[in-house]
Amino acid sequence: NLTTPLETSTSPALKFDVLAKCSTTKARASKMHLPHYTAHTPMFMPVGTMGSIKGITTKQLEDLDCHVILGNTYHLGSRPGPELLEAAGGLHEFMSWNRGLLTDSGGFQMVSLLRLANITEEGVEFENPHDGKKMMLTPEMSIGLQNAIGADIMMQLDDVVSSLTTGDRVEEAMWRSVRWLDRSIKANKRPTEQNLFPIVQGGLDARLRTLSAHELIKRDSPGYAIGGLSGGEAKDSFWRMVSLSTDILPDNKPRYCMGVGYAEDLVVCSALGVDMYDCVFPTRTARFGNALVRTGSLALKQGRFKNDLGPIDPDCSCPTCKNYTRAYLHTTVTKDTTGCHLITIHNIAYQMRLMRDIRQAIVDDRFPEFIREFMSIRFGKTV
Ligand code: GUN
Ligand code: ZN
Repeated sequence: NLTTPLETSTSPALKFDVLAKCSTTKARASKMHLPHYTAHTPMFMPVGTMGSIKGITTKQLEDLDCHVILGNTYHLGSRPGPELLEAAGGLHEFMSWNRGLLTDSGGFQMVSLLRLANITEEGVEFENPHDGKKMMLTPEMSIGLQNAIGADIMMQLDDVVSSLTTGDRVEEAMWRSVRWLDRSIKANKRPTEQNLFPIVQGGLDARLRTLSAHELIKRDSPGYAIGGLSGGEAKDSFWRMVSLSTDILPDNKPRYCMGVGYAEDLVVCSALGVDMYDCVFPTRTARFGNALVRTGSLALKQGRFKNDLGPIDPDCSCPTCKNYTRAYLHTTVTKDTTGCHLITIHNIAYQMRLMRDIRQAIVDDRFPEFIREFMSIRFGKTV
């Protein structure tokens, strides 16, 4: 009976209803009611750095069935800036997007983009790439920016260390992230309109991850994220950390695994009980000329596609596959941005279809069969 949720939680700005659970894995299919849109999970959120996915319009994102997109506070904070965003009525109005919007807090982007970032208890200190001046992003400033943006879901500023870091620094970052969470919660000016998600940290250390997750759930937030992963660690440790986190995080609230976007990770993490994902991978790889398909990806710049008059994927119904050949994309991807743009559309369509297929398999309670077929197409024979 799909009308009575199996699990449910109601926060002022987020209602989460679990509608189906897989009987063998931890996967679930849910509806997440946000202020601007009702999203279906498990879902993938494409990343639109400057308030627009490079080369894609909001209309195209709607047509591709995107429910929630991701913006980066760090980029939006410098241009257009909080005053203009506030005057425009928030980013939804500014970019004419009336569905879900999630913003990351900005620290992670600075630490990963700018090597010069320096973390102190006060916040993340960095050099402004535009004028070289020293600037500081504090938890309070990050929430202030995200309040100006008006995101449906805001992320706490966290102290993120590489998943390959070991030693005391991992524990220090985990506890500092808890303290920054409390400062973020205090700084949120719109707690009944905008959701603030804490982020589980703790590197690849099971004890620290456990401590972090237990600490965060005391704050009774509308949803929780798992961070600090997908940074080059072995799959085995990555999945172990995700599984340990989903075992502790509440069953009736959404769980978001940050920075994850490879198809096999979306399938495995969904089986481990994750509901939301984001990653630059599908759009970034498109700009390098790589089209996502069930067996992996096609490097369309390769000479073997020069005379190939078939679509990227004959089974894909996206506008690119309906209208253009691999040969056309091969030619345009090296010469101008048209090819990149068309492959980006296909790659977003690919991710959205994969997530729809995952949701349907969970609803039909055939997710293990789905996983087996997915893995055999991607990696070869079934065992
Ligand atoms: N994006 C990918 N991983 C992370 C993380 O650990 N923290 C934040 N804030 N963003 C991320
Ligand atoms: Zn396509």
